[in-house]
Amino acid sequence: MAPPPSDQPDAAAGTGAISKVLIVIAMQTEAMPLVNKFKLVDAPPHESMLVLPSLSALLLVGCSRRFRLPAQIHHHRFPKGAPWVRYHGNYKGLHIDLVWPGKDTALGVDSVGTVSAALVTYASIQTLKPDLIINAGTAGGFKAKGANIGDVFLASDVAFHDRRIPIPVFDMYGIGARKALETPNILKALNLKVGKLSTGDSLDMTPHDETAILNNEATVKDMEGAAVAYVADMFSTPAIFVKAVTDIVDGEKPTAEEFLQNLVAVTAALDQAVTEVMESSASPSKQLL
Ligand code: ADE
Repeated sequence: MAPPPSDQPDAAAGTGAISKVLIVIAMQTEAMPLVNKFKLVDAPPHESMLVLPSLSALLLVGCSRRFRLPAQIHHHRFPKGAPWVRYHGNYKGLHIDLVWPGKDTALGVDSVGTVSAALVTYASIQTLKPDLIINAGTAGGFKAKGANIGDVFLASDVAFHDRRIPIPVFDMYGIGARKALETPNILKALNLKVGKLSTGDSLDMTPHDETAILNNEATVKDMEGAAVAYVADMFSTPAIFVKAVTDIVDGEKPTAEEFLQNLVAVTAALDQAVTEVMESSASPSKQLL
């Protein structure tokens, strides 16, 4: 008899292979095409899916702590009250979890930005223990650095541009520069541009931001990447950043207008790129690392 579908495949520990991928996406519009593409299913937010211990383990524990469940039960759920949403499934031998921070409970809009991204990444690493994080999303691009609408970038580096702390060493902490996982095989196989990513909590750009982004040598700017990198780094989880350009920051058009105009079309390019990255990760002959 075939084994029942598992929510937690065997870890590929020690082999360097990837078996569990966590996709972190900020906006529902960006997430849903991937949910459909990979046939992911909604994980009930607060219903626990227990990995039950064997009967003998229960009996053993029961001898010493009657009627209490053993501590090593795994809960694949997010804490009550969090608006975070998880979809999951299997695709070509990879287990995929896709999380987005959900809607702001008071305002009903997507919870974009660094705070929500860091929180959902933290909770997902703790509960799902991914081998790889893919932070996928849209970004503003600098035409002076070669970015065009619809381009998909794989970030080589990430940093913050709105955390100014002009005190020695705190300044570097604020910038929080980190390297993305190097994936030469993905770059060889896929038609992605490479550039540095700068993260801040605003869609628009003040002159201060612009100076900091230039100092970060960034080609694209987003609102989550460096925050996801901070948490991934904390728990030694490799992370890559796939960012599709919806608006040109150093162009003529107002950013918000251009972003909304291009969001749906550019999301298609983003999702195509993420699919190709997944194919490349799934294929043993095209190893990611
Ligand atoms: N996401 C899409 N466009 C953006 C921009 N201009 N700044 C930050 N995040 C973005």
